[in-house]
Amino acid sequence: MAVERIIDTSIHPEDNEEQQIEVTLRPQSFDDYIGQERLKRNLRLAIDAAKKRQEPVDHVLLYGPPGLGKTTMASVIANEMGVGLRITAGPAIERAGDLASILTNLQDGDILFIDEIHRLSRTIEEVLYSAMEDFKLDIVIGKGPAARSVRLDLPKFTVIGATTRTGSLAAPLRDRFGHLFRLEFYTEQEIAHIISRAANILNNRIDPRAADLLSKRARLTPRIANRLLKRVRDYADVNGDGIIDSKTAESALALLEIDTHGLDPADRHMLRSIHENYGDNPVGLTTIAALTGDEASTIEDFFEPYLLQIGFIERTPRGRRITPKAVRHIEVEWK
Ligand SMILES: Nc1ncnc2c1ncn2[C@@H]1O[C@H](COP(=O)(O)OP(=O)(O)OP(=O)(O)O)[C@@H](O)[C@H]1O
Ligand SMILES: [Mg+2]
Repeated sequence: MAVERIIDTSIHPEDNEEQQIEVTLRPQSFDDYIGQERLKRNLRLAIDAAKKRQEPVDHVLLYGPPGLGKTTMASVIANEMGVGLRITAGPAIERAGDLASILTNLQDGDILFIDEIHRLSRTIEEVLYSAMEDFKLDIVIGKGPAARSVRLDLPKFTVIGATTRTGSLAAPLRDRFGHLFRLEFYTEQEIAHIISRAANILNNRIDPRAADLLSKRARLTPRIANRLLKRVRDYADVNGDGIIDSKTAESALALLEIDTHGLDPADRHMLRSIHENYGDNPVGLTTIAALTGDEASTIEDFFEPYLLQIGFIERTPRGRRITPKAVRHIEVEWK
């Protein structure tokens, strides 16, 4: 079993406190939701228009790396529309009957949030996109010669789909979404703002300089920002008076071995192994996975997007290549 990494963008499932904190810190409205300005602007318009017409909003597909606020945005949309939210995930819908029972239990206007929508089976995808298109559900009752097909009317609902990869979504399903939005990495200023807001909710005193310091190491990702804050807070409680100043933050991060770019020892190990074995030649994802012992998909979904964002690796047609900037970091700045 892999070691739990603090900079992992997935939610740590065994950590109940983390799940609790995520719920407490989750923004409820557009005003609390920091950053993603383009997304908010477009959605605000779509929501205002839908309300005026007294119709549900068109289906929304949110894509982008984990921990950037897709689930949070789905609940903000439900709040702003004043409608119910039903949450499910691609792998949880195994049979057409599962989907039918979810759909027939929705109320008019409700939002159905489907996390990891790229993991729906092809059969379910088909049932779903015809339901999204005309709010009807065709189901087959009975078996053999007695089987007959019935068409059920569904309430008018909105699907919000979330995925880390749009590429693995079937085109007909993707086409049913009126709104497609990519969530972007946050700026350091936005992350600092998210940290101050979270500290405030958690009743923690944090010096703005400490918030600033943490914001540079949170991989431009709110989930990691909240997690770092939590760890630094524990450190401040144990080693000081609970107030987070830049000195405490610095010592806590040194203890966690998180460097000035938010990389942990495993990231640095990965970059070093690529550099030592392949220099600046392109390397395939499966080779990198073999070097680190991770699944290729884990690297692709969880660790690589940030490294691409900060220009530490590049994607080429023949694989990933480590950049001079990354080499400088591991050889000079973080030897
Ligand atoms: N814009 C934001 N402003 C403030 N906090 C945010 C924002 N976006 C996300 N967060 C915080 O980060 C946490 C993680 O966000 P969320 O669960 O929505 O990410 P996600 O994109 O759904 O991730 P995953 O792909 O793993 O499901 C939330 O609990 C919330 O506290
Ligand atoms: Mg989510």
